[in-house]
Amino acid sequence: MNDAQTIAVKVAAIEQVTPLIKHFTLEPIDGGELPAFSGGSHVIVVMRTETRIHRNPYSLLSSPKRLGAYEIGVRRMEESRGGSHFMHDTLQVGSALEIAHPVNLFGLAKNARKHVLIAGGVGITPFLAQLADLRDAGVPYEMHYSVRSPEHAAFSNRLRELAPNRLSIYYDSQNQAIDFDRLLSTQPLGTHVYVCGPAGMIERVKTGARDYGWPSSHVHWEQFSAPPTGAAFDVFLARTKLTVHVPPDRSLLESIEAAGVEVPYLCRGGVCGFCRTRVLELDGELVHNDHFLSDAEKAKGASVMPCVSRARCKSLVLDL
Ligand code: FES
Repeated sequence: MNDAQTIAVKVAAIEQVTPLIKHFTLEPIDGGELPAFSGGSHVIVVMRTETRIHRNPYSLLSSPKRLGAYEIGVRRMEESRGGSHFMHDTLQVGSALEIAHPVNLFGLAKNARKHVLIAGGVGITPFLAQLADLRDAGVPYEMHYSVRSPEHAAFSNRLRELAPNRLSIYYDSQNQAIDFDRLLSTQPLGTHVYVCGPAGMIERVKTGARDYGWPSSHVHWEQFSAPPTGAAFDVFLARTKLTVHVPPDRSLLESIEAAGVEVPYLCRGGVCGFCRTRVLELDGELVHNDHFLSDAEKAKGASVMPCVSRARCKSLVLDL
């Protein structure tokens, strides 16, 4: 994926759906339809500010059956590096944007005999499109949604329409919590579980599923987190013969892109493996923040995922 493949869209509607989440409707600038997608897909939104370009992934929450517009939900992040603040504070109805084509790294398993969907906070967004797919699929499913309080329960009305009798909402403010042990220990064989939300919730589901003997192929998770910050360093790109400075608040990938060098990507979150780049020389250590490389590959240090990983080093040479 690179910016040459983006689609020009305009903001058709903005709605504040919780104190922290805005709901954006994006329509193609030239009218017509947007590319088809399946539930669980995300798009990268390209945000051009005066000083830098942000490329953030957001799940598509609209029905895959309606392609006249895409809908996304954006949580305002207090620790934002600028992307979510741009979406919340700068965009207005009519603003132009670019988005990349949808990619699905969190699709529903076609052979599942049941689907258990678990969301925390803004992690509900990919499930809205999946529920639209599941409603007609004839396979049992249930949706569990955990939020701080009723005012933070984004899209609850839409969820009640999409999943009547299959939806459970849990409010922290009322001391309600998902019973992960019960949920993970009582499912029929062939069930797949999907989780999107805070890191602690994802870890709880992954650990619980492993403890209760779920095959890892039946456990699906998605987490879009901003690339971690860290100390500044320089990288030399051997093929393009460029030295690139990576400041503390920019990822290695963003810094390379800002220098005009394209690196393929899909998720920009350390999951898909698409941005994997060969390390040719290193004096120092890599800071691997991805979920793609194995521990052995990380220890070997022969490649790095520049979307989320960094280096603490005197010098780093990449095969770019
Ligand atoms: S773009 Fe997916 S791992 Fe880097």
